[in-house]
Parts: sequence; C-alpha cells; structure tokens
Amino acid sequence: MLLDLRTITLSDLPSPKGHFIIGHYPQFKSSTKHQFLEDAVLTCGPLFTINLVGKRFVASAIPELNHRILKLRPQQFRRLPKIDSVLQEMGIKGVFNAEGEDWKRHRRLTAESLSTKKVKAYYPTVLQKCETLLHKFKTYATAGKQIDIQREFMLFTIDVTTAIAFGYELDAINEKDAIFQQHLEQIFAMVNERTVAPIPIWRFYKRKKDKQLQQSLHAIEKTIYSFIKHAKATLANHPERHQQPTNFLEALLAENNEGDFSDTEVYGNIFTMLLAGEDSTSSSLSWIIYYLSQHPEMIKKVRKEAFDCYPKTATPVSYEQHQQLSYANSVVQEAIRLHPTTTQQIVQANEDCTVLGLHIPKDTRLILLNRYPQRQDEYFDKATQFIPERWGADQCPMHRKHHPDIVKGFGGGPRFCPGMHLAMAEMTTMISMLCKHFDFSLSISPEAVTEKHSFIVYPENLYVHFTAVSSF
Ligand code: HEM
Repeated sequence: MLLDLRTITLSDLPSPKGHFIIGHYPQFKSSTKHQFLEDAVLTCGPLFTINLVGKRFVASAIPELNHRILKLRPQQFRRLPKIDSVLQEMGIKGVFNAEGEDWKRHRRLTAESLSTKKVKAYYPTVLQKCETLLHKFKTYATAGKQIDIQREFMLFTIDVTTAIAFGYELDAINEKDAIFQQHLEQIFAMVNERTVAPIPIWRFYKRKKDKQLQQSLHAIEKTIYSFIKHAKATLANHPERHQQPTNFLEALLAENNEGDFSDTEVYGNIFTMLLAGEDSTSSSLSWIIYYLSQHPEMIKKVRKEAFDCYPKTATPVSYEQHQQLSYANSVVQEAIRLHPTTTQQIVQANEDCTVLGLHIPKDTRLILLNRYPQRQDEYFDKATQFIPERWGADQCPMHRKHHPDIVKGFGGGPRFCPGMHLAMAEMTTMISMLCKHFDFSLSISPEAVTEKHSFIVYPENLYVHFTAVSSF
C-alpha cells in the first residue's frame, strides 16, 4: 500500500467526472457499474468518492483497508440499511439483512446448518442433481445443440438449493414446476431493482410489477410455511433426524432447541438461502465454463483427475471422494479470483472510527472494490491470466506472487459466506463431472461474452457446444 492513509481526509478525495445534480447515478444504475468504478481507479487512484443523487460513497481498491473493514463488522460497519428495508418489506428477515446482536443469533444458527458436517449430509442431493443435468447435456450433445449455460446452471442451482434448503424436489432442470421458479426469478429481479432505486416509488404507487411481486411472495411464502409445518412433524416423529437432518430447514429447526427463532425468522432464513445460494453459484459455474472452454488442455487435465479418482461412476461417489479433486478445485478458485460474482461490497460506518490510520466518520458509505486487486500483478503473478496451477499445493509461494487473502469472492471477516462449503462442493463436483464426459467450446467469440451487473455479476451471451467423449 503506497498511500499514507493517516494523511487523507475523505472530503478531499478525488472523484470521476459526473453530472452536477445526479452525480454518477446513471453509471451506477447501469449493468456495468462495477466496470465504471474499476476504471475510475485508473484516473482517481485507489481511494475516491462518487456521488449518487447527493449521497456520497467512498470507493476503495486498497485490499488491506477493505480486509480490515470487513473484519470490523458487525460492530463498526454494517450492510447498507436499504438492503434491510427492501428485504423486510418483502417479509424477509434473515442472516443476510440482520445486524448487530441480532445478526450473531442468526449467524450462529445458519452457519451451523451449513457446516461441513451438514454439507456432507446434503451431498447426495448435489450428486443427484448433477446427474440429472448430465443426462440433459447428453441429449443436447447428441442433438448438437448449443447450450445457454448460465440458464442451465441456474435451473441446476434452483433444484439443488430448494432441495437442500427445505426438501422441495422441484425438477427445474427438466422445466417442471416452472411457476415456482418464475416466482423466484420475479422476486430476485425486484430485490435487485429496489436496492439501487434512488426513490422507492413502490411505496407511493403500486406498478404492475409490484403487484406481481406481491403475488410471487405470497406463493413462495405459502409453500415454505407448509414445508416448515411438515419438517416440524417429521422431527417430532423421527427424533434421530435431529442428529442427521436431511436438509437445511430440518437442521435449522433441530438447532433451534431453545425456540429462539420464530417461524417468521425460520422462513426469512430459508428465503435467504434461496436468494444467496442460486445466482451466485450458477454464475460462478458459468464463468468457470467460460475459461475452460478456451483451454482444452485444462479440460483434459480435469478429466484425467476424474478418471483417476472415480473411474467407473459418472460422479464421485462420496463427499470424501470429491475432496480428492484438487485440480478441479484449483480451477474453481482461479475462476473466482478472476471473475468473482460479487465484485464489490457496500458497507456503512456505525460509528466514528479509524482504520489503518484513515479516519472514517459515522454513516460514511464505502464501496469496497474487491475484484480490482485480485487482477493486479502486485498480488498475483500474471494476474490477468487464467492459471489454475497457481492454487496447487506443489506451487511454492516463496518464489512467486500469490496472496490468497486478497481474494474476497466469498466476502470476508465474520460475515463471509456461510454457504462456501456447499458452493465449493457443488462447483467442484459439477466441473469434474462435465469434463469427464464432454469436450466443450464457446459457440461465439470470447469477446462477445459480456458482464452484466445485477446484484451479482453474471455472463451474458455465454453459449457453449458440448461433445460427448465417453458413454456410461
Ligand atoms: C459460488 C457461490 C457463492 C458465492 C460466490 C457467494 C458469495 C457471497 C458473498 C460475497 C457474500 C457476502 C459476504 C460478506 O458480506 O462478506 C455472501 C454472503 C452470504 N452467502 Fe454466499 N455465496 C455463494 C453461495 C452461497 C450458498 C450456496 C449459500 C447458501 C445456500 C450462501 C449463503 C450466504 C449467506 C446466508 C450470506 C450472508 C452471510 C451473513 O451476512 O452473515 N451463499 N456470499
């Protein structure tokens, strides 16, 4: 870090050119806002401000500062209050939008319900859904059909997440129960829209989409509450499930021995799982395919590892076996370094504080540009290149630049993603399985694949051709 933060006053920071009234709102509202902010680092330096219709935000591309700030939650920093108000209006109160002592309560329960031990219990569900998608891709490969990979992975993660979250066997992969899935998509889109809206129009006037949102929320709520009732009955009839819950809802209810959580809070956390677990995992998987499609030699390497590890089956047979897929795991980590789905995080100071010498007054809003340093040669050798080998255990960190702590693809500090173990298991298994069965390449040029920011960053126009290499 070259800047001496002790000498900096936030009100004196530079700012990119913007409109004299609405400031940088047009760029920030756009689907490329992350790019606008990263480009601004080049002209303004790693610490600058932007103005969104009169509200000031400090943007930081200084990884040491961002790391410390993330660690200082929930006491000194919090998520933007707007996220909480938007979610609460939709009846969702869970770990993602809780703060302070309340967050600690939610976090303990959800982290326990997503621990490695629990993920191990959920793993057969991941395998089952992987095989369903494998079957579908085989029919695509036989037909020579190009695949909209982001869409297919989204259907996959919807199936995994609803099954693991509350035991709902949706089969979105085979386009069954499309209504439930449409409700979810409708809600996700509105969460995105409302969190960046400068004026909460829906509070004064209900547009068509606001009315549709109400209907979708009502439908999902009804379904989840019926599952809560069912899971309570199952736990009462099968006390052994307290030790071996088959899904997140059962785990949550089993952990909730003291009855600290109301049904509304249980509902809020189930919903949070759906919200947090689907788009992030499907988009990360898509970015992995984007890179592998351009590196046939890496596909072969993942395939060899798969054949060495599970020669006779379509997928790994156990959680332990999937843990041996170290190269597939490196591929996932490298894609998350170069293309994290969360490129930036926004926080707000709860109180006046000083971080690494920088004075940050109460209520300051900060945008932590986490992706920027992840792509800089200062922290990783040949930082803009896709090199999974850099994550291998045999790579000596003494002889090259490698700063894994800089990578914040799953966030950082006490609020880092509690779904990380589950997401890593889903992604490593899926990538290994696909490489074992197929060769694949982009149907369009890599430059035609673009990034879209909508709560998370996902790829647009990512079409891929799959060719089967072996049959089982
Ligand atoms: C590749 C997939 C995923 C990525 C990249 C990802 C990334 C993230 C990030 C960046 C955060 C913010 C962390 C912070 O504030 O520091 C987060 C939070 C969270 N994620 Fe994930 N996530 C993924 C999958 C999942 C899954 C599968 C689940 C659960 C089923 C999940 C549940 C959560 C929850 C509950 C939070 C809020 C934690 C809190 O506020 O304490 N995520 N995730």
